[in-house]
Amino acid sequence: MKIISTALEMQQAALALRAQGKRIGFVPTMGNLHEGHLSLVRLAKEHADTVVVSVFVNPTQFGPNEDFAAYPRTFEADRALCEKEGVDLLFHPSVPEMYPDGASVSLVETALSRTLCGAARPGHFDGVCTVVAKLFHIVLPHVAVFGEKDAQQLRVIRRMVRDLRFPVEIVPGPTAREPDGLARSSRNQYMDAKQRAQAPCLRRALDESERLFAAGERDPRKLVAAMRALIAECPAAKVDYIDIVDDETLQPLSGPIERPALAALAVWVGKPRLIDNTVLRP
Ligand code: PAF
Repeated sequence: MKIISTALEMQQAALALRAQGKRIGFVPTMGNLHEGHLSLVRLAKEHADTVVVSVFVNPTQFGPNEDFAAYPRTFEADRALCEKEGVDLLFHPSVPEMYPDGASVSLVETALSRTLCGAARPGHFDGVCTVVAKLFHIVLPHVAVFGEKDAQQLRVIRRMVRDLRFPVEIVPGPTAREPDGLARSSRNQYMDAKQRAQAPCLRRALDESERLFAAGERDPRKLVAAMRALIAECPAAKVDYIDIVDDETLQPLSGPIERPALAALAVWVGKPRLIDNTVLRP
């Protein structure tokens, strides 16, 4: 596995691969890799000849009250996991490499990022779009894999690819889960044993929404209320939001669910804020 730290060298490597007719698969990450990321790498391999992983903690997607400096940086462990997983190229740029001094051009997303996680994190998805657009220009992938756990991010990236005509296929990676249903996340390590034991309530709440939906319930308010009631059974859990929105526009629903809808929740369980989601399809 080759480690590359400059945009120019990465672009040259990508152009050389393309000249050889190789299909490039890309998994962008902020490092601190776990089984969830590795499942995305395996999926990228199924869609490409060469897999590139990027490890870059992107400052522009952190808000003023979010601790960019404290985000875990575990490059040596990440490198070893990528090597073991058969990643071909690991792109690990510095902040000035991605944001040259005086950088003054960035992307703004004006619709999908207004609800769910974006409502409480103004500018977050603008930062995600900006860095992913840069990474696409540097890695030149044919296909890029994004996890379904970050449902809003996946939809924002798809919209960016559509609107800016990036020639990149976006492949969604199913959420990797612990045996008890908890979505895998680097944040899970910050729960104590008591909190960890209660954390599967997120998945149970979504299961309940799926069960009621399958039984014919179409009122989003009733489905949200049922999910809230389930989360309320866990004393360690504090709801940030539980919402059901249109799966394509991510806008709130004004009536019964008649098109695919995204049920999404963000819940603090102790220190970490965990997210999960499911799509309800009529
Ligand atoms: O999902 C993430 O880890 C990040 O938002 C991403 C896509 C790597 C952009 O920094």
